Amino acid sequence: MALKEKSIELLNKGVAKEIQTVLQYIYFQAHFEDKGYTHLSNLFRKIAITEMEHIHMFADRIMFLRGDVIMKPGGDITYLNKKDDIVDVDIKNILAIAAKMESDTVDLYNDYASQCSAAGDSTSKRLFERLVQIEEEHQDTFDIEGDNFERFGITYLALQTIQRVDKKEESGSVDVGME
Ligand SMILES: [Fe+2]
Ligand SMILES: [Fe+2]
Repeated sequence: MALKEKSIELLNKGVAKEIQTVLQYIYFQAHFEDKGYTHLSNLFRKIAITEMEHIHMFADRIMFLRGDVIMKPGGDITYLNKKDDIVDVDIKNILAIAAKMESDTVDLYNDYASQCSAAGDSTSKRLFERLVQIEEEHQDTFDIEGDNFERFGITYLALQTIQRVDKKEESGSVDVGME
């Protein structure tokens, strides 16, 4: 396989991983929003947008290498379980799934960076390394949120709900589904 082809293949694996992550986080975000967990909803929305930007970054590099971008999720979306026909929004479990997704991505991108380096493509190597740093920050954020939830439990959720009500009262806004 030509060196350029190897990089294009790895960059497209990155695209697949990011698409899967974007879809997963939007799914979680929708459930948090529905429950009124504003802080978590905003957090997942923000990180999903960052992951979308990563797709752009990989796509730009693939274009430069004269390849084509394959727009396909790298794996299935994890759906939440139902209890008596109601979706169980298990915060601890969701944050653990998200943290694991990030740590898996870190492992993958470290490996892809090494492979790009071996193939003599230092720009793609640096791109993967740059994203490793960002994904590690995401993992850390999800770990911290998980610890907070473990420590404060219901209080953590209640505070988020109060913040949401306060915000609405301040702005005098009605719920149109957007913060
Ligand atoms: Fe990402
Ligand atoms: Fe991430």
